[in-house]
Amino acid sequence: MTGAWVDDPRLLGRAVRHIAYEEHEIAARVREMGAEITAAYPDGELLVLGLLKGSFIFLSDLVRHVERPIHVDFVVAASYGDATVSSGLVRLLYAPEMELAGKHILLVEDIVDSGRTLNRLVELLGERGIRSLEICALLHKHVADSLRLEPKFVGFDAPNEFLVGYGLDHAEDFRHLPYIASLE
Ligand code: IMP
Ligand code: MG
Repeated sequence: MTGAWVDDPRLLGRAVRHIAYEEHEIAARVREMGAEITAAYPDGELLVLGLLKGSFIFLSDLVRHVERPIHVDFVVAASYGDATVSSGLVRLLYAPEMELAGKHILLVEDIVDSGRTLNRLVELLGERGIRSLEICALLHKHVADSLRLEPKFVGFDAPNEFLVGYGLDHAEDFRHLPYIASLE
């Protein structure tokens, strides 16, 4: 294996199986996504809602390429029960207190895996009289069996592997990698 990441001290000694997305590839795609979002919302109030914690880097890069007025807020969701097996029971620890009625809502997620978190959020947000709801995901594994709402904006179709970096963690490690990697 060659490459600068071999000696990356951020990896805690873990070996990289492969780099899924390099920093420059992510930057180029995020810039395009910003332009897609700008074009998709010609009018109306747009609230960009980042799902914490995984979306924090993606969201902060993305919003700087959205060239129209927006507001930004966050949603914090937690699953009940065993953290490794998604139980499908999701509750909101934090949701915006502002009025959502009449606004376009763009939910920003790091990666769509089973889709359970998103399905619950779509259900909850759908009850608040909003003008529109769309999902923007940096990565989509395409393994979810029933998504209530397919993401309208997707950065990359991701391999069905456990990925870290650019916001994605493994037990809270590796979120700050500037690239996205699959670890051994
Ligand atoms: P879902 O509800 O199964 O779609 O899970 C979505 C959440 O699980 C994401 O927001 C991530 O926080 C986490 N997740 C799913 N796949 C991965 C992965 O490959 N690496 C890191 N986190 C992941
Ligand atoms: Mg996580």
